[in-house]
Amino acid sequence: MLKDVKIESHFIPVDVKIRERILSYGDELNRSSPVKADHTRWRLQNDDRAFDSFIDKFHEIYPKHRISELWAVTYRQGDYAEAHNHFGFELAFAWFVDTCSHCTPLVFPDICHPWLAKENDRIITPSNGMLYVFGSKDVHYVAPHTCTHPRIVMSGNVCKLGDW
Ligand SMILES: [Fe+2]
Ligand SMILES: [Zn+2]
Repeated sequence: MLKDVKIESHFIPVDVKIRERILSYGDELNRSSPVKADHTRWRLQNDDRAFDSFIDKFHEIYPKHRISELWAVTYRQGDYAEAHNHFGFELAFAWFVDTCSHCTPLVFPDICHPWLAKENDRIITPSNGMLYVFGSKDVHYVAPHTCTHPRIVMSGNVCKLGDW
């Protein structure tokens, strides 16, 4: 029996300007979160209009929700994300901005049945423009990045309208 992980997928095209914009922030968190990679501030949406088009499209798909935190992560070789969740919000998401199909996947392990090793894990292969939305309690990780190019992802935490 698989743990009840519901992952919804959508496609939002990536504007080429977003990549450079993300890289311009560098690392603003000094690896203080479970994500051990270059990590921007948590609320990019408050400081930078470059992400408005993505945010608008997200809210078109999820009209009863609002993005309350939005950040970007740039993984270079060896960078990874420890297993974690986004408890305290309703939903969380990952949107692949600049990746290739060989980039390390986003993995949702079956934490209720760890003895089954990897057979029940949900494995999300990166694909640019793909948006994956999941429950904030769902545990996930990214193993160390192996490609020579950066693996760039935007992520966020999402509340139900009325809850914030
Ligand atoms: Fe996460
Ligand atoms: Zn790659």
